[in-house]
Amino acid sequence: MATSETICGQPMDRVDGHLKVTGRATYAADVRLDKLAYAALVLSTVSSGRIKHIDSAPAEKSAGVLAVITHHNAARLHSQEQEKRPGVDPEVGEPLSPLQDAVIRYHGQPVATVISETFVQATYAASLVHVVYEDSSGINDFNAAAAKAKPPTPVKGGKPGKSADYQRGDSAAALAKADVRVDAKYSIAAEHHNPMELHATVASWDGARLTLYDKTQWVDNVQEQVALAFRLDKENVRVISPFVGGAFGAALRVWPHVLIAALAARHVKRPVKLVLTRSQNFTIPGYRPKYLQNVSLAATREGTLTAIEHEGIGQTSIYEEYTESLLDTTRQLYACPNVKTHYRLAAMNVNTPASMRGPGEVSGVFALESALDELAVALKVDPVELRLRNFAKEDPEYNLPWSSNSLQACYRQAAQRIGWDQRTPAPRSMSDGNQLIGYGMATATWPAKRLPASVRVQLKQDGSASIETAGSDIGPGTYTALTQIAADALGLAASQVTVVLGDTNLPTAPVQGGSMTIASIGSAVHEAATAMRNKVIKLAQEDPQSPLHRAVASDIEVKAGRLSLHKAPHTGESYAQLLQRHRQETLELTHSSKPGDETKKYAMRSFGAHFVEVRVDRDLGNVRVARVVSAFAAGRIINPKTAHSQAIGGIVGGIGMALLEHTRWDSRNGRIVNSNLADYHVPVHADIHPIEAFFIEETDMYSNPIGTKGLAELSIVGVAAAIANAVYHATGKRLRDLPITLESLL
Ligand code: MOS
Repeated sequence: MATSETICGQPMDRVDGHLKVTGRATYAADVRLDKLAYAALVLSTVSSGRIKHIDSAPAEKSAGVLAVITHHNAARLHSQEQEKRPGVDPEVGEPLSPLQDAVIRYHGQPVATVISETFVQATYAASLVHVVYEDSSGINDFNAAAAKAKPPTPVKGGKPGKSADYQRGDSAAALAKADVRVDAKYSIAAEHHNPMELHATVASWDGARLTLYDKTQWVDNVQEQVALAFRLDKENVRVISPFVGGAFGAALRVWPHVLIAALAARHVKRPVKLVLTRSQNFTIPGYRPKYLQNVSLAATREGTLTAIEHEGIGQTSIYEEYTESLLDTTRQLYACPNVKTHYRLAAMNVNTPASMRGPGEVSGVFALESALDELAVALKVDPVELRLRNFAKEDPEYNLPWSSNSLQACYRQAAQRIGWDQRTPAPRSMSDGNQLIGYGMATATWPAKRLPASVRVQLKQDGSASIETAGSDIGPGTYTALTQIAADALGLAASQVTVVLGDTNLPTAPVQGGSMTIASIGSAVHEAATAMRNKVIKLAQEDPQSPLHRAVASDIEVKAGRLSLHKAPHTGESYAQLLQRHRQETLELTHSSKPGDETKKYAMRSFGAHFVEVRVDRDLGNVRVARVVSAFAAGRIINPKTAHSQAIGGIVGGIGMALLEHTRWDSRNGRIVNSNLADYHVPVHADIHPIEAFFIEETDMYSNPIGTKGLAELSIVGVAAAIANAVYHATGKRLRDLPITLESLL
């Protein structure tokens, strides 16, 4: 679809690039208002029990302090009425309603907030708040919690396997009579999203109206939940979030600090800014939970899968049951008749986990794709060949045809680009001086979904257009891609289109999550802009003064804002001329777009394949990911430049998961011991070597009107398995616990 005729498909620079690099893009914490006061949080230092006593007097007397809010004097929040948002809120349990009672549910829970004239005064005074706890030693040890893991509470309409056990065929019988079987246990450390931008909210009341400047992936959700908590009409809450400095899922939900900022501003009757510290970033928003997983595979001697059993035990809090699509891939990726999955939850005194890039799938696929590699070794079959032999020609869970599936092309082309045929299969068989060389691969996949979205289009008298919708841009290039989609549909140059995002005053839009933004909002922009073009064409057709009067619509084309006839490109007129003659300052329309019944007819997923070369030092055991080659089939790519950035970002996240990222709780007291960027390691520039990410040409005719499928989450899924498989190939050591560390290799 990428032709020189369309702006979609071109590697256009980011339209917001200049704003960002010159510091003119305004993030939540950048907002300055008159009489702005600053809040700082006090967090609990035990993981379970009650607050016995809070002495806030010393803090209240401290310089610049306006107020100290604790559960004794906080206004009541009506959070129990909050509606659960699918895909964002856990279906079972109640979110933490901050400063409402004396109960301590986890270490690092907000117990007070101090509001002062300055940030420094607030931070200092927060250190003076003295809290006495009745410590009832909570559940702080994951293994102990996992030993008592329970199935998630069944939810009405819950997806099989996410909230309920799943079975097709008879996996036990197939495992019992397997030619070859693999049984293995895998574990994954918890990880925290650490976007550069810290979570921040500025709250400002004007009577009963509240304005929030917030870091969020979903302004409409913040509006709705805050309105419910404060019993306000939704219209009286405005949420503004034009730029978000990374999120990866950390800003999908409404976390306690957002409510605290609003509480604080109302209490002191002044606007209040609350910016979390990096350390608070670990216990106010969520994180990717820890998992234990058991996988059993059975296959014939020829390498046909006959059974898969996959059990996952995931970490959750004591107040919410956090589940995610951990086991979905296992049921859908391979053509296997006998499959059983079951999910168990280990509840602990921790804050509730949350979606983190590729939520669920990224964790489940690590186990599944590691086990596939173990099976390939046991069968003495090439790992790529094993996957090709078990390719699912249709979706084996719902028995639906794929809307598109170029997975086989991903395997073949990425294998060729990395030089897979040079790989000698035996472990430790390749080296370069003191470095053991290993090649490994794994599959990537993510569901392609679409949600309803609304968009307003304005065509102005100068021929330019604006596109407005509440949706967010957390960094993937949404402003840019939507500009391209609108420009093509309107027949304008990209420079004539302005996209406005991130404000509840704009037409409603879904969460920027689940890799659904372009499919959802992009489709709405395409439809809205097409409707606007048709409206203008009609205006010309009905206008006796127009050169296009009574022209047949299919004969009319629009290019660079000029309407003309295909056959006679010189006869015509511009949007601007037409609107001026009609004395129309603007033409405006709002359009709502939603998916049809395609999900009932097709199974829709993006696919990909990661191939990596690792180099492991023979003596020191340090692992270097020397090269990554990844192929993605994600439907039509609107902007190959921003898509490429997004893909390599996901792969870097996968390298972090495989080798570095590890949130550690002290099992004695439930405290996170590495809640800072010195001790919580993310990959830095020196950890990253050549990454080649490329796209398989694919336009999905069924997923949505613009043929896209979604890329963000896809790009991280499978990376860690490919690295672990490569480490096995390099060293002969099968490492089933993430992150892979020096100790585990020595
Ligand atoms: Mo994504 S984890 O839905 O931001």
